[in-house]
Amino acid sequence: MRGLFVTIEGIDGCGKTTQARLLHKRLLRDGIDTVLTHEPTDGQIGKLIQKLLKGQGEVPAKLLALLFAADRYDHVEKLIRPALQSGKIVICDRYYHSSIAYQSSMGVDEAYVKCINDFAVKPDLAILLRISAKTATARVTKRKHVQYTEQETLQTRVQQKYEQLCREGELIPIDAEGNRADVQRKIWALVSEKLSERHVHYERSAP
Ligand SMILES: Nc1ncnc2c1ncn2[C@@H]1O[C@H](COP(=O)(O)OP(=O)(O)OP(=O)(O)O)[C@@H](O)[C@H]1O
Ligand SMILES: [Mg+2]
Repeated sequence: MRGLFVTIEGIDGCGKTTQARLLHKRLLRDGIDTVLTHEPTDGQIGKLIQKLLKGQGEVPAKLLALLFAADRYDHVEKLIRPALQSGKIVICDRYYHSSIAYQSSMGVDEAYVKCINDFAVKPDLAILLRISAKTATARVTKRKHVQYTEQETLQTRVQQKYEQLCREGELIPIDAEGNRADVQRKIWALVSEKLSERHVHYERSAP
């Protein structure tokens, strides 16, 4: 049986990591074999990307697009595909929709970004945490290191790209302006619906 692949997307500070962890915890609590992972990864290429994003100077957008795709290739082959093949649920905090939204907002041709990611396994459920760039920026400015990708103007462009992906049916939007529990409930509604489509039944009530 193939597992279920859930990805969580959205601009910086919208709550992806918070919600991915809550969903992971919730599924584990119900005894469901679930893997929580993220991009960029903690592998060699992922670490290089993280370092470049924290750096002072701008990195050429096309170079970043290629690095993200290489990191993702490694991620898919080593972790995502094997976990899904063994029937696990995989939750991924950012995936290729991030590349489409960010790299194309930084000037890389969208068709090119899609092409270099054509190997990527398609998610069964790709969720967009929809939030205003203003709220998200307010959340991330509390951090010590502000990445150049966190500038509000870029975030607004990225958000528009994500909205386009929703219109294309690539992403399912969720209002993420509310508190953590509120957003968690909305995510759980989508995930539990997917699970019941696969005849996985739950005795416990939603959070
Ligand atoms: N619903 C919420 N309401 C208020 N604050 C929140 C909410 N969800 C998360 N936060 C806080 O906002 C900050 C950003 O959240 P988080 O790190 O989950 O975002 P992210 O989408 O993973 O960001 P990034 O893209 O930069 O990794 C954190 O300090 C987190 O505790
Ligand atoms: Mg995060």
